[in-house]
Amino acid sequence: MTAQPKFRLGLLGSGKGSNAAAIADACLSGLIPAQVALVLSDVPDAGILERARARGLPALHIPPGPSRAKLDAAAEAAFIQALQKAEVDLVVLAGFMRIVGAEFLRAFPNRVVNIHPALLPAFQGLEAWKQALDYGVKVTGVTVHFVDQGVDTGPVIAQETVPVLPGDTPETLHARIQDVERKIYPASIAALARGEIRLQGRQTVWKRL
Ligand code: GRF
Repeated sequence: MTAQPKFRLGLLGSGKGSNAAAIADACLSGLIPAQVALVLSDVPDAGILERARARGLPALHIPPGPSRAKLDAAAEAAFIQALQKAEVDLVVLAGFMRIVGAEFLRAFPNRVVNIHPALLPAFQGLEAWKQALDYGVKVTGVTVHFVDQGVDTGPVIAQETVPVLPGDTPETLHARIQDVERKIYPASIAALARGEIRLQGRQTVWKRL
């Protein structure tokens, strides 16, 4: 009997890569029934590339082009091509600081996910933990969601709350949020890899096993 081909993940990030590392480790330990096929970054010296290479994973820098917020058309095409060549089943944004465009989403329909450090739809955009702290909320959290054409607007896959504690600084709150991210993201990706999450319009339905 031949082994089932493994579900293949493409990870994209611009930063230190703690989520990517947790996902890669969860693949190795068998918690996620998948393999990391490719890690891509728009930042040449990003920690995510270093952490991937330290784990023996293929990791590439692709220059993003001149815009600060998105990939230019040629860069987007290069990202798509690399992910298609690596035959990824799911694109996982893990701290990727650029908006992915319509072309990218067309190449991977309903197959791009993201993690956001707040309870969406609250505090969309950058430094959501700081936005939550500045606003004065008592509870914030983490959202895993499918990516659509908006910014932080796609269907919610999973959410978990994180309390804002007296004396929290942006750093302490972000660190507590990231502890939760490193659990909820691998758990969500495992469910996606097992085919346990169905999308019905804006609703995601988790199959109860
Ligand atoms: C995370 O807080 C994530 O929610 C946000 O960017 C950060 C990435 O951190 N989208 P890391 O690079 O995974 O450590």
